[in-house]
Amino acid sequence: MSAWDDLKEAVCNCTKCGLSQTRTNAVFGEGDPRADVLFVGEGPGKDEDLQGRPFVGAAGKVLTKMLDEIGLKREDVFIGNIIKCRPPKNRDPRPDEIEACKQYLFAQIAQIEPKVICTLGRHSLHTLVKPDISISREHGKPIRWEGMLYLPMYHPAASLYRGQIMDYLRFDFQQLRDLLDRGV
Ligand code: URA
Ligand code: SF4
Repeated sequence: MSAWDDLKEAVCNCTKCGLSQTRTNAVFGEGDPRADVLFVGEGPGKDEDLQGRPFVGAAGKVLTKMLDEIGLKREDVFIGNIIKCRPPKNRDPRPDEIEACKQYLFAQIAQIEPKVICTLGRHSLHTLVKPDISISREHGKPIRWEGMLYLPMYHPAASLYRGQIMDYLRFDFQQLRDLLDRGV
């Protein structure tokens, strides 16, 4: 088995935190394991937990549409999350759960070697870059941090609650398109 398959199996069978007791399926993520672009969301919701796939519910529809608008398919990128198992009632992941889970994400990043990591929402931004970055101020602006290029984006789910966020999200995806066109 490849290192990638080993990693997937480790995540799918993981019991390192309490979320293993309430999940239906762990969500490893999906897409191209050698993608230039890695999207990192927060964690699985209800639909994702049931299907074992990332961003397949309402927020996922928005993400898929945003990708389509800049000429990308889900298979062209890799879509993952900070936390691989659904927190009960979609509560925020706790710091100890993020701590337990984030080594999987770091291992995914090391294997994918993306050119740019698009953080979706503040949990992803604050876990991967720095906890004091304001998403409303910094979204759509690339950040170089510890040798990696990050593009902070709003979370697609936020657009379901506040229509104006859809415009911000479109802006963020356009910045991604520009980065790719310039060959990041
Ligand atoms: N929201 C997320 O942050 N991740 C998913 O996989 C689905 C919804
Ligand atoms: Fe393991 Fe992460 Fe799932 Fe916790 S959330 S059980 S650390 S895969």
